[in-house]
Amino acid sequence: MTDLVAIARSLFAPGKGILAADESVHTATKRLADYGISASVETRRLYRDLFIGAEDIEESLSGVILFSETLLQKGSDKKLFPTSLAARGILPGVKVDLGAEPLPESPHEFITQGLLDLPERLVAYKKQGAVFTKWRAVIRIDGDTLPSAVALHENAKRLASYAKEAQSAGLVPILEPDILHEGKHSRQRSRAVIGEVLKTLFSVLEEHSVDRASIVLKTSMALSGSESGRTDSPEEVADDTLAVLVENVPPQVAGIVFLSGGQTPDEATTNLAAITRRAKELNMPWPLTFSFARALQDEALAVWKGNEENVPTAREAFLNRLAKVSAAASG
Ligand code: 13P
Repeated sequence: MTDLVAIARSLFAPGKGILAADESVHTATKRLADYGISASVETRRLYRDLFIGAEDIEESLSGVILFSETLLQKGSDKKLFPTSLAARGILPGVKVDLGAEPLPESPHEFITQGLLDLPERLVAYKKQGAVFTKWRAVIRIDGDTLPSAVALHENAKRLASYAKEAQSAGLVPILEPDILHEGKHSRQRSRAVIGEVLKTLFSVLEEHSVDRASIVLKTSMALSGSESGRTDSPEEVADDTLAVLVENVPPQVAGIVFLSGGQTPDEATTNLAAITRRAKELNMPWPLTFSFARALQDEALAVWKGNEENVPTAREAFLNRLAKVSAAASG
C-alpha cells in the first residue's frame, strides 16, 4: 500500500517546495503569447523543459506539478519528464481538474470540472508516474456580495470528492482553493473570505471522511486586491495569513503550500519569507512552503522568448529566483 502520509510530508523537506508547471493548454497558450511565443505541443514541451531541464533543481524542489500532456513528453535528456524528475528525487505530480466554468447558479463565479471520468484518469496518471495530484477551485471576491454561499459549497464538495478519489487511487491530493488576487477588496476582506472558504472546505471534507493527514492545502496569501491601490507590508500579510490558517486548518493536515497569485516574483518571495519566519515564531502545527507558477517562471520566460539560444540565460534567471524562493521557504 502506498504511504500517502509519507509522500505528502516529503513535499515539505526543509528548504524545498513545489514548482507548479501544470498550465492547461488554454493557460499555457496565454502565458506563451505574453512573450510572443505561439503555442503548440512542441513549444509547450520546450516550455516545460526550460524549467525541468535546469541543473540541480532537486536542491530546491521536492515536487513539480505537471499537466497531463507533459506526463507523456520527454525532456532534452531524452527521458519522460516524470522519469527524469523521479531520477533526481523530485516527486512528479499532475493537475487533474479540467478547468473552471461559470457556475450556473451564479454565472460571475466559477465551478471546477473534471469529476466524471476522474477514477479512470487517476489510474492512468499513476501508471504514467504521478504520485500526487492537484485540483484547483477558483473563488472570486467582489465587494460583500461574492463569493456566494453556493460557490463555496459546490467547490468544497468537488474538492472533497476529488480528494477521496485521489486517496483511493493511492495518490496524494493537493486541494487548491485559489482566492483570486484580482479585485478592489481589502486585505481584511481577503482574510475573511479565506476563512469562509476553509471553514466550508474542512467541514465538507469531514462529511466525506477524507483523511486529513495525507492532504496538502494549497492556499492564497491574505492580500489586498490587485486593484485596491494598496500594497500590504510583508508583516501584515504574514499576520493575517497565519491567523486565518490557524483558525481554520486542522493540525493533522500534512502541510500548506502557497500559490503566488499574480504577485510579482519579489512580492511573492518577500511575503513567503515573512510568513515562514512568523510561523516559526508562533510554532505553527504544519510545515509551510511554496507551490508557485508565475512567480517562479515569469523572469525566465521574459529572457527565453522561445529562442533556443536564450535557454542558458533563462535557466539562470529561473535558478536565481528558485534559490531566493527556497531561502524564503526556510524562514
Ligand atoms: P500562481 O503561483 O501563478 O498563482 O499559480 C499557482 C497555481 O498552481 C495555479 O493553479
